[in-house]
Amino acid sequence: MMNRIPEEIIDQVRNSINIVDLIGQYVSLRKSGRSYMGLCPFHSEKTPSFSVQEDKQIFHCFGCGAGGNIFSFLMKLEGVTFPEAIIALAQRAGIAIPSSEWTQTVESPEQLEKQTILKAYESVSRIYHHLLFQTDYGKAAKEYMLKRQIRQDTAEEFAIGFAPDNWEFLTSLLTKRGYSAALMQKAGLLARREYDHKPFDLFRNRLMFPIADSEGRIVAFGGRILGEGHPKYLNSPEHPQFNKSRILFNLAKAKSHIRKKRQVILFEGYMDVIAAWQSGLHNGVASLGTSLTEAQAQILKRYADQVIICYDADNAGIEAAMKASEVLQRIGCQVRIVRLDDGFDPDEFIKKFGSEKFLNRIQDSLSVTSFKMEILRRNYDLTDEQERMEYISAMLDQISTLANAVERDHFLRVLSEQFNLSLEALKQEQKKIFYQQKKAKNRDNLSRNRNNSINNGRHVPVKTLWPAYHNAERKLLALMMYSPDWAEEIMNKVGGNFNVDEYAALAAHLYQYYAQGNRAELSKFISGLEDESLINIASRIAVEEITEDLSSREVSDYIQQVLNYPIWLEMEQLRQEQKKLEKQGNSLGAAQLGIRILELKKSMKPLSTKP
Ligand code: UTP
Ligand code: MN
Repeated sequence: MMNRIPEEIIDQVRNSINIVDLIGQYVSLRKSGRSYMGLCPFHSEKTPSFSVQEDKQIFHCFGCGAGGNIFSFLMKLEGVTFPEAIIALAQRAGIAIPSSEWTQTVESPEQLEKQTILKAYESVSRIYHHLLFQTDYGKAAKEYMLKRQIRQDTAEEFAIGFAPDNWEFLTSLLTKRGYSAALMQKAGLLARREYDHKPFDLFRNRLMFPIADSEGRIVAFGGRILGEGHPKYLNSPEHPQFNKSRILFNLAKAKSHIRKKRQVILFEGYMDVIAAWQSGLHNGVASLGTSLTEAQAQILKRYADQVIICYDADNAGIEAAMKASEVLQRIGCQVRIVRLDDGFDPDEFIKKFGSEKFLNRIQDSLSVTSFKMEILRRNYDLTDEQERMEYISAMLDQISTLANAVERDHFLRVLSEQFNLSLEALKQEQKKIFYQQKKAKNRDNLSRNRNNSINNGRHVPVKTLWPAYHNAERKLLALMMYSPDWAEEIMNKVGGNFNVDEYAALAAHLYQYYAQGNRAELSKFISGLEDESLINIASRIAVEEITEDLSSREVSDYIQQVLNYPIWLEMEQLRQEQKKLEKQGNSLGAAQLGIRILELKKSMKPLSTKP
């Protein structure tokens, strides 16, 4: 179960922290009418669309759709769970959580297991570290480390260790300490022998790099072979606390630096992050040997506006950089790419040319377009006329994706000078390509928008024109949020018949919320939702829908619209069929449908006012 912290304490925490004060510590807010506005911390923007409402104690971003109360804010910003957010905010408010009370109740078997796994990783990493520095076993590994120019203080900071060349070192140690072999296998600390499931050491004779989650808890290892061999790195397998696609190497240590600069450097390898760290770059992270996932990109965006990609300067690295830049740009990050000399990775570059030159390269990172221009150029023989035209056409394609007119102009000029072409002709050609791209995109959007869901509450344009029944359902939900009396009335008349899935879910939550004897208190209601997209939608409705001056007649009309919609839908379908029958010359069939349609129409309750 999710949280067993007593309800009264959650209420107490919520009532003692003002959402404006809390968010004001992270976002600079300015009062505007009844709310406070600022730049959204969850997506990058230049004009404020992030709103905090003091009276309702909620926030909502009109740009990205994020929303919720103080707990949702902290969960999203720091990537913590609901109980963790409660504990952090309780501390801030000076409210003691009776630990005996909730530690006893909070520990479900899964949670106990989680704690045991984390504890095991913590002590194993300490043991590996000890072996590397304090014992003779670690001698060769230490030499290897020095050869790779990892300094002692860096090794301490990254808690680098050594797994001895032994099949049962860790197995027997963990067993002696009372850890169950089965759980340690599940946690990926021990391997399992195929034919009898006997445990054995997974990591042997490797330099060990602990991998932590964003809170700094060690959840995995990357183990490097000392010298040449396969696999070069062995990584812990995934387990409940280690989802590769959501973890970034070094994020816990880097995140305060990233947040300060609003900038992160993205590397491919552990060694690159470490070498950069030694050069004084403390805002570097790496994905774990796979291409950057959208989840990782979203995590980075929480802390940074700008991502500087610094991958290996080989074909694989270039391709990976392109892919990562697409993922990052799609979710609204500003991306730049570092160009290193051919064949070098960041770690080798630093070793060969020194930290200062490396920092300069980071400074001189290229925009994605400049980078692509450079890379594209290498694929064409520009002395050949045919290839030159192909290159120019590929560049125009690229330039047409740029939203910024100044940028487009810049690159068109570069092209024009480079090939001695008329700027006007290039501009015209580029416009043509732009409209072709736009047409193709519109076709995509059309087919994508034909469904009844609300798109997770994300990326909704600022002012949406909802269909009438959508609008009616939103108004009813807003009413219910403010008044248990309205909620009761709507429960009796509409019940579960909301037409939009998400709204039906919210209505069900509201009925239940009041049935449990709660008062109308928006931020409390939101606490109980748990589902992030529902929280976002509820916050948006609360911020956007004004219900204070609704007459009861208008409310009945909204109720009627909701109930009428399925009937209307059925009528529409019958009308389509009717048309078909008429076309086929089946006038009897068409007339029968006509009667059915009329009946349906009669069953629709009329509205007192026109919507
Ligand atoms: P690289 O092959 O670029 O390694 O892989 P590297 O960082 O330059 O390593 P060194 O300098 O030779 O020690 C980049 C990343 O891909 C993952 C690791 O996360 C590595 O840091 N990787 C690579 C693996 O997981 N397994 C491998 O066998 C190789
Ligand atoms: Mn390397």
